[in-house]
Amino acid sequence: MSLLIDNIGELVTNDDGYGRLTTLAHAAVVIEEEKIIWVGRSKGAPAADHHIDAAGRAVLPGFVDSHSHLVFAGDRASEFEARMAGKPYTGGGIRTTVAATRAATDGELRDAARRLRDEALRQGTTTIEIKSGYGLSVTDEARSLRIARELSEETTFLGAHVVPPEYADRVDDYVSLVCGPMLHAAAPHAKWIDVFCERGAFDVDHARAILTVGQAAGLGVRVHANQLGHGPGVQLAVELDAASADHCTHLTDADVDALAGRGWTVATLLPGAEFSTRSPYPDARRLLDAGATVALATDCNPGSSYTSSMPFCIALAVREMRMTPAEAVWAATAGGARALRRDDIGVIRPGARADLIILDAPSHLHLAYRPGVPLISEVVHNGVKL
Ligand code: NIG
Ligand code: FE
Repeated sequence: MSLLIDNIGELVTNDDGYGRLTTLAHAAVVIEEEKIIWVGRSKGAPAADHHIDAAGRAVLPGFVDSHSHLVFAGDRASEFEARMAGKPYTGGGIRTTVAATRAATDGELRDAARRLRDEALRQGTTTIEIKSGYGLSVTDEARSLRIARELSEETTFLGAHVVPPEYADRVDDYVSLVCGPMLHAAAPHAKWIDVFCERGAFDVDHARAILTVGQAAGLGVRVHANQLGHGPGVQLAVELDAASADHCTHLTDADVDALAGRGWTVATLLPGAEFSTRSPYPDARRLLDAGATVALATDCNPGSSYTSSMPFCIALAVREMRMTPAEAVWAATAGGARALRRDDIGVIRPGARADLIILDAPSHLHLAYRPGVPLISEVVHNGVKL
């Protein structure tokens, strides 16, 4: 079965290979099965079995949300309420969600995660990375990842999110558990390993030990780095050739230089977290001007950022982080793909996966220009229209 989308006012292709948003006017796309097979001017488009007239609207690659924590139970609305009344965010509430997650049945966890995944999909997110990290026991981490794997091929083992209460004052023992039996149970369901490298979570030596054994087990590396204060997370991510250093809120010049260097570690910025914890935003302009590759993601989780909306993150990045609309849309599509080391998503070119969205607007600018407005009018995921 093939599908032609023609009369596209602005097609975002991201196909120049230089990390810039690229567009084609008066365009058309042809999809066959789960792949894009043709991209060009609407006038010369080949025929197909099915047809959508975009009527001058913009078409973009589906969003690539490269950082989320969708497998959890309960919520922390009252913690949010307290924060909005002035209480600072410390990450301490993670343990509340761990208790709720452990108490939930598989069915409850699966239904809740699927609801969030579907919510993201309706808002144009066609790839979503999903982390564990609210189980923190061998069986609870393994089941979180089994559920994550049912919803996404991009799954991340985050057994080192925080030290669970039963290991308080026994951090070394917990790290041994994570590096041994927990990794063993998690690895078959995971593509990536992540550590929350932060004061109050895991220090750099523990983080390096965990990430290194994960790497040896065949997992790619990502790091929660420099979210709540300055620290060694970003440098560790670059040292280990992590696909991504996530958050990057508190950076020294040396951290920026490391991210802008010759390596391939993407700086993934998560402005939903700063919004929802009322914290200063990361300095995207400084990273971009230094030459770093920047991705945008939601960090969707019940504590620091309970949003699944990539358009919301784009609007924040433009308004609050001085990214141009083109930089922000690139970061939310091709940037996320780089953070997952993928070249078949985040782009619209022959051979890429048929993941795209039709906006109820004439250009990508409207995603930031019309914040909070549901502009995603059609979503095609894996060649199938929702
Ligand atoms: O990325 N920083 C650590 N983990 C999450 C927050 C998790 C939570 O508060 O439940 C984050 O912001
Ligand atoms: Fe996170």
